[in-house]
Amino acid sequence: METRIAEVAPGIYRLSTFVPEIAPPAGFTFNQFLLLGDEPLLFHTGLRRMFPLVREAVARIIPPERLRWIAFGHYEADECGAVNEWLAVAPHAEAAHGHTGCLVSLNDMADRTPRMLADGEAIDLGGGRRLRWLDTPHIPHGWDAGVLYEEASGTLLCGDLFTQLGDGPALTEAEVVGPAIAAEDLFGFSSLNPGMGSTIRRLADLSPRTLALMHGPSFAGDGAAALRALADDYDRRVRAALA
Ligand SMILES: [Fe+2]
Ligand SMILES: [Fe+2]
Repeated sequence: METRIAEVAPGIYRLSTFVPEIAPPAGFTFNQFLLLGDEPLLFHTGLRRMFPLVREAVARIIPPERLRWIAFGHYEADECGAVNEWLAVAPHAEAAHGHTGCLVSLNDMADRTPRMLADGEAIDLGGGRRLRWLDTPHIPHGWDAGVLYEEASGTLLCGDLFTQLGDGPALTEAEVVGPAIAAEDLFGFSSLNPGMGSTIRRLADLSPRTLALMHGPSFAGDGAAALRALADDYDRRVRAALA
């Protein structure tokens, strides 16, 4: 296994590890995002067992001990399994997560007290880079779920939203909704709930120019349209489940 690096927006690096054994023959990627600034932030820690690979990839960009923030979308192994390994490597780093996730899991599981982010609260990385935390409870799964939005470049770190199979390019302008629908059909990874459409449309109102997928390529283009189409598909699934 190797972890490949690509800059998908100015100062935002995608670290991608392809695992062909998951969902063969297409395989599956696990992506972390390193955002540079005076206070660098890593979004997703990677699986605990993937830590040596991801640490080595980060080290090709910055000294890992410079990391200031460790953030992720929800409490799950691929999102945050290596949080304590990162806290050990980076002595000034803090984990940052939404209120629910800190109260339910991270206050206990993280080796240092995390920073609790309220819905809409921003982390300032310096150098004009701010990241806003937005609660998306249960979407696509996890009571504590949320996303981070980088305002300067219009990049939505959207975690498991738009999950797709395969090992595509680092950055694509090809549509990402169809592949996400196919992955949902295969995995059923989302907690279908009546709030899905409205929560995802709230993200569309940000009009992101880049969608940074945790499992799939990053998408450059009309992020609002993609999010609204995804919201429509979830609404359809919820109606079908209730019918
Ligand atoms: Fe997940
Ligand atoms: Fe994930």
